Amino acid sequence: MSSEKVLSSASASASASAPLASPHAELCRGINGLDKVVLRDPRGSSAEVYLYGAHVTSWKNDHGEELLFVSSKAIFKPPKAIRGGIPICFPQFSNVGSLEQHGFARNRLWTIDTDPPPFSTTSSSKTFVDLILKPSEEDMKIWAHSFEFRLRVALGPGGDLLLTSRIRNTSVDGKPFSFTFAYHTYFSVSDISEVRVEGLETLDYLDNLQNRERFTEQGDAITFESEVDKIYLSTPTKIAILDHEKKRTFVLRKDGLPDAVVWNPWDKKAKAMVDFGDEEYKHMLCVEAAAVEKPITLKAGEEWKGRQELSAVPSSYCSGQLDPQKVLHGS
Ligand code: BG6
Repeated sequence: MSSEKVLSSASASASASAPLASPHAELCRGINGLDKVVLRDPRGSSAEVYLYGAHVTSWKNDHGEELLFVSSKAIFKPPKAIRGGIPICFPQFSNVGSLEQHGFARNRLWTIDTDPPPFSTTSSSKTFVDLILKPSEEDMKIWAHSFEFRLRVALGPGGDLLLTSRIRNTSVDGKPFSFTFAYHTYFSVSDISEVRVEGLETLDYLDNLQNRERFTEQGDAITFESEVDKIYLSTPTKIAILDHEKKRTFVLRKDGLPDAVVWNPWDKKAKAMVDFGDEEYKHMLCVEAAAVEKPITLKAGEEWKGRQELSAVPSSYCSGQLDPQKVLHGS
């Protein structure tokens, strides 16, 4: 697919005919002329979402500090997914299934959703964008299911980044479908060896580096000194990523997404990726709200909702505060 072609269809669908509902959202041209929506909250935080993949590529706090990692070698050119930010993995996580790695949603052109059904949440954010993906005829050849995937990206009070996915089975012939899913978030960290993740202690996980064999995490918070690629199962709804050097803690809250993937490619795999710098593994960590172990099944007419909320707080947030029991039962 040439980027020229992609550009013109994006312009036709988004720029020309789809006004943005939020007064704090603006449609502009990003890298390689790809359309992106910039969200600017009046209190100072901001986010950027490419229509290509409905891919969040930037999330900044009210001091203008970037909180997500995007590789300096990321290729903003279809069909390659953008390396960094928040790729959406749908309808397949990783290579568990017959589709391409992580499914196709991350390398399709989404459009602006001008008429999303109302949200039942109480979120009062006025800084948001709604995007939608429906399968093309080509998509139907590789995954023969009718769906509407609606994604809302919003900036909440205090600069929180909220992603809400609503996936509906729009089949007219009564056919159910199943899928796996992840918000593949790349957090920006100062130095991976100084980072710890809390909230996943003592949980079972499938180790992607050992044929997805099941193990149980021992003891303390998770720290990093080599490649990691694990799917933690049935996790608490709150996970913390503590960046000691930056004195910053990311808090990830999730809903509808029981699992959490933790990934860092480390040096050898980093060198093998064309769109990732050799040393960049030191400055990123993926913690992904996901539904992997038990695929989600939707009957015709049914809708699934999966939500991820990210906040970044100064690290006076004490370590130990997020032991699984407290996390499970606390706010
Ligand atoms: C993670 C997977 O979610 O994504 C890893 O657990 C994978 O196995 C990584 O290597 C990156 O995937 P991709 O397709 O973006 O290179």
